[in-house]
Amino acid sequence: MNVGVLVSGSGTNLQSLIDRARRGELGPARIAVVGSNVPDCAALARARAAGLPTFVVDHRDYSARAGFDRALMTGLRAKQTDLLVLAGFMRVLGEELLGAFPGRIINIHPALLPAFAGVRAQRQAFEAGVKVSGCTVHFVDQGVDTGPIIAQSAVAVHEEDDEESLRARILAEEHRLLPAVVRAFAERRVVIEDRKVRILGGGPTGENLRSL
Ligand code: GRF
Repeated sequence: MNVGVLVSGSGTNLQSLIDRARRGELGPARIAVVGSNVPDCAALARARAAGLPTFVVDHRDYSARAGFDRALMTGLRAKQTDLLVLAGFMRVLGEELLGAFPGRIINIHPALLPAFAGVRAQRQAFEAGVKVSGCTVHFVDQGVDTGPIIAQSAVAVHEEDDEESLRARILAEEHRLLPAVVRAFAERRVVIEDRKVRILGGGPTGENLRSL
């Protein structure tokens, strides 16, 4: 199964996919291509360092979303992308791109959805004073972080945490959860019925909650 990854930032989630693929831990999934809207982002450098094909579609070159979407589609289709993974991709996808990969686009979000959707989720959670937060891998739909939830992993918020330490604890969990879901998807174990998603044979769980 060919995985296309879209990135905009530091690319630590991409790196975790790369590392696990190297160790043979992604099952039948292989990273076929990495695309970005940010020409000089660290994530792209990680992809290149790993010898992966990359492409850039700078959103600033497009006046309308449709053109931007189409350019992304061209880059992804050139490498026969089956599953599209948004790993810190900071643009909302348009109808055309969503329609091109029905039920095959997933995103990692640094909070336990449906709480704290949108940007700066870790800060939202920290400022709300929650005692548990975490990360969510979900299917992407037209909304912002509103698609069906595939898997979640929780982390404790400690008394002595600041926003940054919470972010780091969640990120470490993201690095575990996203590859686990990519693998399950590639093994065709992810089944969606309406909004309910099941992972056949057992999905990743928040084992880290034991530390509470
Ligand atoms: C992660 O926290 C991810 O959940 C969010 O953006 C961040 C990307 O980090 N969507 P990285 O680029 O993978 O390091």
